[in-house]
Amino acid sequence: MIGIFDSGIGGLTVVRAIMDELPGYDIIYFGDTARTPYGTKSSKTVIEYSLQNTEFLIRQGAKMIVMACNTASSVATDALKQNFNLPIFEVITPAVQRSLKETKKSVIGVIGTRATISSGIYEKKIKEQSPDARVYSAACPLLVPLVEEGWLTKPETRMIVKKYLHPLKTRQIDTLILGCTHYPLLKQIIQHKIGQRVRIISSSTAVAEQIRGFLSSSSEIDQQLSKTGLSEFFVSDITPQFEKTAKSVIRQPIHLNHVGL
Ligand code: DGL
Repeated sequence: MIGIFDSGIGGLTVVRAIMDELPGYDIIYFGDTARTPYGTKSSKTVIEYSLQNTEFLIRQGAKMIVMACNTASSVATDALKQNFNLPIFEVITPAVQRSLKETKKSVIGVIGTRATISSGIYEKKIKEQSPDARVYSAACPLLVPLVEEGWLTKPETRMIVKKYLHPLKTRQIDTLILGCTHYPLLKQIIQHKIGQRVRIISSSTAVAEQIRGFLSSSSEIDQQLSKTGLSEFFVSDITPQFEKTAKSVIRQPIHLNHVGL
């Protein structure tokens, strides 16, 4: 099984992308809805939660882990790789690679949670591969609660997105990385506010494509992954709002199991 985790709804955009890229692969998802959001917490806490989430997924039979959360990917990747001996995927590197392929002027914008943006990880990884690139980042702390609340098309959400994107728009970015897995749910509004000429890169689809590429060249690992079309969803807190949003993201009926870590 492919084990995937996030603080809540956002990781489901990664689940959906993996289902599209790798149909039939068994998936187990954990959304840490009791402890969301991660983006406002300290690195120490996010690392601790990420280790617990991974342990849970491995106990359930995961043979590969996808950190479907930019915040966890920014601060907890090394800790996970040191503690667990199985393939671990983070969402930042694939989004960086994709943005460098797409940008024409090497002027890249990044939006994410406070924790992701203040880690500076996107800028660091972009500059490692393209030292002359200009990177402009903006933390958008209100977007995760708006998505969790299901306010995907409200005028208030549009107004907030516009305000957050304004500084990036004035820098004339040509590519914008959605550095939070919640943000693909606001893609239409974001595209509208940043302008149709800006290429939007989603870390959710970028990681799914990277995993497909990896599995096609790593047959030993691919063979360890069961492929019966099963998908299981666990969350640390269930609310009717989460259930409703989850179904619309996955675009199929899903059953949520409650688990306390
Ligand atoms: N969806 C996550 C991310 O990509 C976490 C958001 C949060 O919990 O603050 O950063």
